[in-house]
Amino acid sequence: MKKTIQNNLSLLPKHVAIIMDGNGRWAKKNKLKVALGHRTGVISLREIIRESNNLGIKSLSIYAFSTENWKRSTIEVSALMDLLSEFFTKDIDELNDENVKVLIIGDVEGMPEPQRTILKNSMALTQNNTGMILNVALNYGGRSELIRAAKLIAENYKNGEISLDDVDEDYLANMLYTKGQLDVDLLIRTSGEMRLSNFLLYQCAYAEFVFPKVLWPDFTVEEYHKALLEYMSRDRRFGGRNTDE
Ligand code: IPE
Ligand code: IPE
Ligand code: MG
Repeated sequence: MKKTIQNNLSLLPKHVAIIMDGNGRWAKKNKLKVALGHRTGVISLREIIRESNNLGIKSLSIYAFSTENWKRSTIEVSALMDLLSEFFTKDIDELNDENVKVLIIGDVEGMPEPQRTILKNSMALTQNNTGMILNVALNYGGRSELIRAAKLIAENYKNGEISLDDVDEDYLANMLYTKGQLDVDLLIRTSGEMRLSNFLLYQCAYAEFVFPKVLWPDFTVEEYHKALLEYMSRDRRFGGRNTDE
């Protein structure tokens, strides 16, 4: 029987991470301003969030703005910040109704106003929700996240709260923004680029990578299903051997 998502729901990834890439190229291809590429990308994002929730994905992590993205022009950065406020203002009630818990991963304190307040309010509103966790990476860098974790651990050690033997993989994982969540099972990066660009370095240790060629604004639920099916066909060994080998 042909493998479909519906008859193999148990094989779905529990944690999906997405690097939403290609908005700029999409705008260029369509002779539009880059801001319109980002705006169209938000339409894809809404659909993918909804579908992930429908499928019962436990955690969806999306890369929305990296610590390196500040290097872009003031016009592009402010267009992105405006879109961010618009998204969280318009969509937060629906996300809340869907029982989605929004977690901003990254340096929220380093975000400008009014975005900082809007983001904090979105987290506060949804903090007790028990459905899908939506990790939105903003002002996020994987290395900064690890440095932050190292400092937290050093602090706990210095205060005598832990001994060196307490620091193991789980302990470090619990010092990350994604504390309490499972590792990334599937990482999708659109637009054909094949790199992590500093995203979820620790959490992706054993992730399966899928790189659809389509640009993010063209990424549909159908494309998402293709990536999920590709994941479901992979043989994950985690360094061991599966029994039939
Ligand atoms: C990804 O699209 C969105 C963000 C980085 C916010 P890009 O803007 O990087 O699109 P390309 O890579 O220039 O096509
Ligand atoms: C990664 O994409 C960041 C986001 C999607 C938010 P970039 O387009 O910024 O990454 P590079 O520069 O191609 O590595
Ligand atoms: Mg890019």
